[in-house]
Amino acid sequence: MQLAMIGAGYVGLTTGVCLATLGHDVQIYDSNPDRLGQLMAAKVPIYEPGLEDELRRQISAGRLSFSPLMRRAVANARAVFLAVGTPAAADGSVDLAQIEQAAREVAPHLQNGATIVIKSTVGAGTSRRVREIVAEARGALDISVASNPEFLREGSALQDFMEPDRIVLGYDDPRAGEVLAEIYAPLAEAAPIVHTSTTNAELSKHAANAFLALKIGFVNEVADLCERVGGDIGAVARSIGLDRRIGPDFLKAGPGFGGSCFPKDTRAFAAAGRRHGAPLDLVESVIRRNDHRQATLARRIVTAAGLQEGDDVAILGAAFKADTDDVRESPALRIAGYLIGMGVRLKMHDPKAARNGQRLLPQAGWVDTPYEAAIGAKALVILTEWPQYRQIDLQHLAAAMDGCHLFDYRNLLDRRAVEAAGLVHHRIGTAPRSLHAPITVGLAGRARAG
Ligand code: NAD
Ligand code: UGA
Repeated sequence: MQLAMIGAGYVGLTTGVCLATLGHDVQIYDSNPDRLGQLMAAKVPIYEPGLEDELRRQISAGRLSFSPLMRRAVANARAVFLAVGTPAAADGSVDLAQIEQAAREVAPHLQNGATIVIKSTVGAGTSRRVREIVAEARGALDISVASNPEFLREGSALQDFMEPDRIVLGYDDPRAGEVLAEIYAPLAEAAPIVHTSTTNAELSKHAANAFLALKIGFVNEVADLCERVGGDIGAVARSIGLDRRIGPDFLKAGPGFGGSCFPKDTRAFAAAGRRHGAPLDLVESVIRRNDHRQATLARRIVTAAGLQEGDDVAILGAAFKADTDDVRESPALRIAGYLIGMGVRLKMHDPKAARNGQRLLPQAGWVDTPYEAAIGAKALVILTEWPQYRQIDLQHLAAAMDGCHLFDYRNLLDRRAVEAAGLVHHRIGTAPRSLHAPITVGLAGRARAG
């Protein structure tokens, strides 16, 4: 099927490439000329494992192309996907400016009978709003608007698209349902397909992200309790996760959830609850706790390591999780920011996200290896679960450091190995076994105040 994709970010690009892999003819348009220029040269401007290879394969196969003109991308498409950004507005609700703008720009070029498919994450009622916009511009046109939320994760985006847990197709008229079913027919054996209304599809996306965020928020609270009572969150999470009603995923305690989606989507869902008089108290609570978590962890680092103003600290990890260069709402950068605010000097390392991190946190020193970061550091903090940090040479690290505190806030390392290197291992959800850390007045006092 001839398809157009509007927006070539993480979602638009991955979805466009994968739809070509499924055998469709896909033209992608993005309003950012730099991004489009790179893509036209078959270069992927983001780090997403496997994406560039697959993009090149699909371009060579003649199924994927990039158009500098929206008209050309849209004119012959039976379905036009919108995958533009939906950031948070000041009150937390979804800022629909990019969606509305894209709908206005697409409208003049649509062919009669086309279906607009909203891929972006939006609130309930947005499909109807897009329908109104197109009707205002092209009243005589017979157009459908559908909602097809995306559930891929950065870092495993291709696999998530090709092997989804489910595909949600939201539409209010049968023709849109037929078009969507045809698009996804090659995946029909691989995953359950939920046919539902646009409103239900829109709600499902926000509800799914909010539920996953609740799981993470819950396990982080239990981790805090484990630290107080001598428990181990790894064992507790495994024990509860084996209950099939709970499930083992999204039970890893850490520095809190971040990224371009959970923070904004939980806020948007909560804002919708408030606006419609159906408050989502659990979601409100998890947002509040998650927002405080990074400041709390920064204070813990300062206190436990007895840091003084001007001390050097090494941070490993800037991305909001491994396998991505995305630093949007990254807990790592937030903790780093709090530490800098408390007078600590930072050296930071990230294998993929250093360039993006440096843009947001130029005050930190950015280095090329974890060992460089460790030189002279009073404490070392791991904040992103990059696999290479698991393999780190702890003796080398300890020899480079000037202090002995390793804060393993992704629970990556083996306690015995860390202690054998002469370091104190601070994990999330387990009390440190060895030292009771000294508490310093000066900086720790400021930290408490912050
Ligand atoms: P992004 O910011 O990486 O990409 C959005 C792209 O849209 C940008 O390249 C921008 O230039 C382009 N754009 C904006 N307005 C345009 C217009 N009028 N015409 C053409 N292009 C335009 O965003 P993203 O991370 O890909 O997210 C897109 C949507 O998908 C959001 O609603 C997000 O919540 C949702 N989503 C994201 C993920 C994820 O993992 N990133 C997963 C599922 C859903
Ligand atoms: C998330 C969802 O997992 C996707 O299904 C969804 O499509 C996407 O949001 C979206 O709507 O954009 P993503 O943001 O790429 O995907 O990353 P996740 O793997 O979900 O991680 C989000 C955050 O939660 C990260 O900061 C991660 O470190 C944290 N996390 C995740 C934990 O702290 N513990 C866990 O057990 C899992």
